[in-house]
Amino acid sequence: MRGRFITFEGGEGSGKSTQVALLADRLRIRSIEVVTTREPGGSPGAEAMRHLLLSGLVKPLGPTAETMIFAAARDDHVQQTIKPALTRGAWVICDRFIDSTRVYQGELGNVDRRVIRALERVTVRDAMPDLTFILDVPVEVGFARVEKRGQVRDRFESEHIEFHIQLREAFLSLARDEPQRCVVIDATQSPETVASRIWLTVIERLLQPRGTATASRAAS
Ligand code: TYD
Repeated sequence: MRGRFITFEGGEGSGKSTQVALLADRLRIRSIEVVTTREPGGSPGAEAMRHLLLSGLVKPLGPTAETMIFAAARDDHVQQTIKPALTRGAWVICDRFIDSTRVYQGELGNVDRRVIRALERVTVRDAMPDLTFILDVPVEVGFARVEKRGQVRDRFESEHIEFHIQLREAFLSLARDEPQRCVVIDATQSPETVASRIWLTVIERLLQPRGTATASRAAS
């Protein structure tokens, strides 16, 4: 049976990488094979393109060309890493995927929606996420967390505050449009609380046969 595909999305400092690792641990305890990965990147070819994208080297080419490079990286990532893992029955947890392109390049970069969707069809094909967590934090909270890490800001992190406010809105709106796939999680809570909420959702949506969700809610 095909494995399950879970993606994490959200703004800067929303805690995605921590939650990817915590969810992977919980699944591994259940003896499920888990592959954790990220975008841009996740395969040798895509990691090479990651540097071009995050350093801002391709920014002068304009938003459409930049989107195509994100798509080229995704194509390699899906073919080399995600599909083989899903085919052998592993679960894949990915830090950012199609929704980042829809939001950063589509909503904020004003790249034509038809271009975004066409590239998505070509790159993703049947590797659509089964479940997407949108980790939501107010922009000030996310910024304070990034500040605390003390890392150099990448091409997107250095955008002005208004950009990040719109980004948050765009992720929330996307989640409203696709409630069957997307779940918004309040990520201002402690990492453990956020992880528990995520775990409950995974149990309800992916681990449990239909119709038994209420029973487990009572059990947790
Ligand atoms: P990264 O260093 O992975 O940080 P984080 O996910 O913690 O923010 O940065 C990835 C950056 O690339 C992030 O600012 C969002 C951006 N991005 C896009 O603009 N489009 C995309 O399709 C993807 C996958 C990422």
